[in-house]
Amino acid sequence: MLVVFFLVSLAYAFYDNSKNIYELTPKSFDDVIYKTNHTSVVEFYAPWCGYCQQFKSHYIKAAQASSDVAQYAAVNCDLPENKKLCNEYRIEGFPTILVFRPPKWTGKITKKNGHSSEIYRGERTASKLTEFVKGRVKNYVKRVNARDIASFVAVKDKPRVLLLTSKTSISPMFKALAIDFLGSLDFGYLTVTDEIKSEVQKHIEVESLPQIVVIDRDGSFHKYEGPTARTAIAKFLGSFAEAEDGETSERGTFLKGLKKGLYKSYRDFKKSRAGKSKSAKHDKDEL
Ligand SMILES: *[C@@H]1O[C@H](CO)[C@@H](O)[C@H](O)[C@H]1NC(C)=O
Repeated sequence: MLVVFFLVSLAYAFYDNSKNIYELTPKSFDDVIYKTNHTSVVEFYAPWCGYCQQFKSHYIKAAQASSDVAQYAAVNCDLPENKKLCNEYRIEGFPTILVFRPPKWTGKITKKNGHSSEIYRGERTASKLTEFVKGRVKNYVKRVNARDIASFVAVKDKPRVLLLTSKTSISPMFKALAIDFLGSLDFGYLTVTDEIKSEVQKHIEVESLPQIVVIDRDGSFHKYEGPTARTAIAKFLGSFAEAEDGETSERGTFLKGLKKGLYKSYRDFKKSRAGKSKSAKHDKDEL
């Protein structure tokens, strides 16, 4: 009886119950990994492999620690439907961890699948992998110097987000936020040192650091007061522009549904949405 249970449990995908890790198939792989400006980590594994079993808890931990800066996914190469996918990526040993990076978005349409991939060869621990991934997040946050503040906060057709910080580098989470709003919000960060504080104060009231301020199209300032978490900040930013990615976006809804097993691909999701909005409209008509 015990033996049977053991065999059955091995057949299961490793990460079905891990909120931050998407188990991918050929139907969802391209949608999740390529149709985003976020960096992705994919573990190709086989449930019977000892190194994979050892790595599992580290991978779950890594995803918990940094799913706010990159996407985490896995492909079970033991499933017949995934064999082709694992061959395509020339997976020879388990686990193989690939990190995918999108091309830098320059405002122009880029060729499909312009992503680069590299094999993670570092230590298979949560902390080392997390560190590696944080260094692979594309940066769209511009550094703003004291002399650029006036032009950064001027009236413009696109709202801007400014991070005032005491640090000289930007957090990966803030980089990820800039990716969520790529094309609809411009992001900048300003290192407020004692030397330039009075110069900064001429333009923006600095209370405490770090501080996030949105400068709307009309030049008005809106200070963020909530917790320092990607989704909370994205919700706030959502009142100035629409997110293209991240939990508050349409893509975020798709990913959540994918995780729950509601859809197998983005196409499925779109189809079900089209059906829903029809019935939603119908409900309204009846009111
Ligand atoms: C990156 O973001 C831009 C702007 O939102 C979008 O047009 C483009 O399709 C995105 N690239 C990918 C690979 O999703």
